[in-house]
Amino acid sequence: MFAMDPITILLSIITLLLLVIFAKKQNKDANKNFPPGPKPFPFIGNILKIDMSKPYRTFVEMSKEYGTVFSVQIGMSKIVVLCGLETIKDALINHVDDFLDRPKARVFSRTTKDHGIILANGNNWKVMRRFTLSTLRDYGMGKKSIENKIVDEAESLVQKFRSYEGKPFDNLKSMNSAVANIIVAILLNRRFDYEDPTILKLVSLINENLRLFGSPLFRLLNSIPLLIHWLPGTHRKIFANIRDFHGFLETTFTKQRKELDVNDQRNLIDAFLVKQQEGTPESTDYFHNENLIALVDNLFVAGMETTSTTLRWGLLLMMKYPEIQGTVCTDVIMLIFYSGSWKMQVKP
Ligand code: HEM
Repeated sequence: MFAMDPITILLSIITLLLLVIFAKKQNKDANKNFPPGPKPFPFIGNILKIDMSKPYRTFVEMSKEYGTVFSVQIGMSKIVVLCGLETIKDALINHVDDFLDRPKARVFSRTTKDHGIILANGNNWKVMRRFTLSTLRDYGMGKKSIENKIVDEAESLVQKFRSYEGKPFDNLKSMNSAVANIIVAILLNRRFDYEDPTILKLVSLINENLRLFGSPLFRLLNSIPLLIHWLPGTHRKIFANIRDFHGFLETTFTKQRKELDVNDQRNLIDAFLVKQQEGTPESTDYFHNENLIALVDNLFVAGMETTSTTLRWGLLLMMKYPEIQGTVCTDVIMLIFYSGSWKMQVKP
């Protein structure tokens, strides 16, 4: 049996008490200006009161007691919750300066080190956003060239759907791959067949991570990183997936760097690599490899899941409401007929 002498026990109790007093004092000082909310416990905050798998449900309940602007503490992180459309609109429209930056997500700071666009702030965000918007336009965003690629990809997708000959099938992978192909066209100027193991692997890494991001343990990791960091669990799988995905990106960049021709830039990655070679303070400070990986990761993840999920919901709703399917079909035919842009190419 593990025995402890009285002095060790006493010292442990005193240390624990001091830690609790310290944590309480820190909470009091740091949270002076926070809106009301439930009283937090030291270290764990309000996690015992929050349904971590569906926190929004608890927040709606809490808003009945504390109002539509209240604070909760998850682990050591104090969070202000805005509940309801009117409150959110008021915050984002009338207090825009207070909501400019994004919070630091400790978990992602570890993998992308706050580079890229989506989780970046300040100058890094500005420079990467400016570069991305102008380069996406150069490579077809909002232009005929990308429209043609989308039309070709849509045809391949329809062929894939037809290959099931009317039998039921899951469209997740082919829809993901079709959308990913449009993004890949801009990033790498290539396309993958829907059965290509590379695209299937990339898509499954992203899908798995998006699913795991919702896990309660992963959410806690942001708030009590020291505690959760050492535990086994889904977060380890997330980091492994990110490593795999970034490994693919690094191999791709290395290959592209070897083939780079400054006078014949083929895609967004080439454009980034050219900026990297400029030798200006901006290229040294921002156009480094870590930003390139984070940026391509951001575009792939932000663009692939959002767009294919929107399209899949569209298909589902049209299956459920055939009369709306009829209206959509008529609208599309009229658009093609009047726009004249690709009416000659439409097959019966
Ligand atoms: C239906 C499709 C899409 C939806 C619903 C959607 C939704 C959103 C939302 C809500 C944000 C704001 C997130 C925030 O501020 O925290 C955002 C930002 C962003 N999205 Fe999308 N998105 C879609 C398609 C795309 C595509 C196709 C791309 C690129 C290939 C993309 C790239 C980005 C990027 C880079 C940001 C960050 C912008 C910034 O911080 O300035 N998204 N998206």
